[in-house]
Amino acid sequence: MVKKTESAIMIDLTQFNKDLATLGIKVTYTMVVYIGDTYRIITSKGEEIGGSREEKEKIIAHLLSKQPFLPITGEEMNHGYLFIETGLAADVMEKLKILLRSISFSMDKYMLEERMQSCSLGILDSAVNAIEAKDVYTKGHSDRVAGLAQLIAERMDLPYSEKEVAQAGLLHDIGKIGISERILTKPGSLTDEEYQIIKSHPEKGAQILEPLVMFKKSAAAVRHHHERYDGKGYPDGLAGEEIPLLARVIAVSDAFDAMTSDRPYRKAFSYDIARQKILSASGTQFDPTVVEAFNSIEEKKISSVIGSRA
Ligand SMILES: [Fe+2]
Repeated sequence: MVKKTESAIMIDLTQFNKDLATLGIKVTYTMVVYIGDTYRIITSKGEEIGGSREEKEKIIAHLLSKQPFLPITGEEMNHGYLFIETGLAADVMEKLKILLRSISFSMDKYMLEERMQSCSLGILDSAVNAIEAKDVYTKGHSDRVAGLAQLIAERMDLPYSEKEVAQAGLLHDIGKIGISERILTKPGSLTDEEYQIIKSHPEKGAQILEPLVMFKKSAAAVRHHHERYDGKGYPDGLAGEEIPLLARVIAVSDAFDAMTSDRPYRKAFSYDIARQKILSASGTQFDPTVVEAFNSIEEKKISSVIGSRA
């Protein structure tokens, strides 16, 4: 999966070439950009120079010693270089500098977004750990749901990035943060009032995530992960394809991990029994296409996510 930053930068480069053409600038160049801790080396013909990190470093060192260049400088850091041919007129150089400024600006923006996202995810991950620490039975549950959701996603053509699938899995129960330990770990049956409190967690979770733009798709999946395919779930009683696809994927992953875990009121089901229960709820509780994708995953891949418990 191409990371958002990388694909966005490739779009910027396409725009850069269009702008050169619009301004009538004919220049042969080699552009080096740093993305995270990797380099991309792209020529004016649109070809990308591959190789190991060391090989790319040698190429960059060679270019730095031989060719004139313009730095691609952002607010805080250098994002790379534009190596150009010798003998360009001063006015062409000025135009190139202006065009590079817009690339620098975009790269600053993407880097900032990535940093904000990983920072927010770090905070939310701590919140998930805090919830799971309240209840020994759910320890590691969110991580496993994220892993299972990714396995299902690999089998389906989903309109979500790998990161979005993992985030939705990791954060699906984040709304439990406000629910007392007493209710979460109560061994006996819940009162109506306690059940209503537990049932509020998808909405609370979505409320936590909605203000964060980068978690928009995760927020929708979190809100709807307890909907049922037949419309009998909560909070909104959505049915079939009204339920966001990512929520339907999380629902199967969540149920399978819950069934193969010990709970205060029962022991874990075996892998085979849990799988049968998922299959028998296809079309009622779960989306049949998601169940089919889940059922096609090899047992050893599932075991690598949920451990040897099942
Ligand atoms: Fe949940």
